[in-house]
Amino acid sequence: MAQRTKAVAQNLEVITIDGPAGAGKSTVAKELARRLGIFYLDTGAMYRALTLKAIRSGTGLEQEQALVDLARRTDIRMENGRDGVQVFLDGEDVSEPIRSPEVTNKTFYIARAPGVREIMVGWQRKIGSQKSVVIEGRDVGTVVFPKASHKFYLDADFEERARRRIDELKARGKKVDDENLKTELKERDHKDFTRTVGPLKVAEDAVVIDTTPLTVNGTVDEILKHIQK
Ligand code: C5P
Repeated sequence: MAQRTKAVAQNLEVITIDGPAGAGKSTVAKELARRLGIFYLDTGAMYRALTLKAIRSGTGLEQEQALVDLARRTDIRMENGRDGVQVFLDGEDVSEPIRSPEVTNKTFYIARAPGVREIMVGWQRKIGSQKSVVIEGRDVGTVVFPKASHKFYLDADFEERARRRIDELKARGKKVDDENLKTELKERDHKDFTRTVGPLKVAEDAVVIDTTPLTVNGTVDEILKHIQK
């Protein structure tokens, strides 16, 4: 039985997609996972969910040990359903509130805490050891799954990334101040690229795709070409 489990585990596929905000990772990763019939794992949603819990519980965002303790008492689950991806924080569906501007702008506190990242990475590796996944984030090809079967890094021009974020928020009925959003996106990029643990960078063996001129389906087709090579 142990042998069988091992054999099955060896056949698991892990496809990593890293890149900055607005590069198209989520939509592309979701569609790729759908086409391959495997699980889509949004690691950013995990960092967001813990941020939401820290805000709600009044946990000091600058206090690493308190954040680590909070993470240890937290259950974050993700479901790929017919109606999209749902994120559950201690059993509550938080798919919507984790996308609020407040959570978006405060997630860096959680993301820069080494002890918290260690816990997150552990959760992500556990999921990837149980089923085939398309996993998306900032450090998934470099830290979480350095031996992934296929690694991709999606990028796009800053103006295009900002435009996508603005369109996405407007489509969800949110009011957006374009210039404000651009400033926030620049700040988030800077924090993602420069933090000491799990910074955003291109894995040496990742395929880099500039999605600026591509549609979602065009990007997925491009990824599939590399996977099927
Ligand atoms: O991908 P998304 O924009 O939802 O991620 C929100 C934030 O979570 C990022 O700006 C980043 O700071 C953090 N994050 C991270 N590591 C990941 C995924 C997200 O630090 N693997």
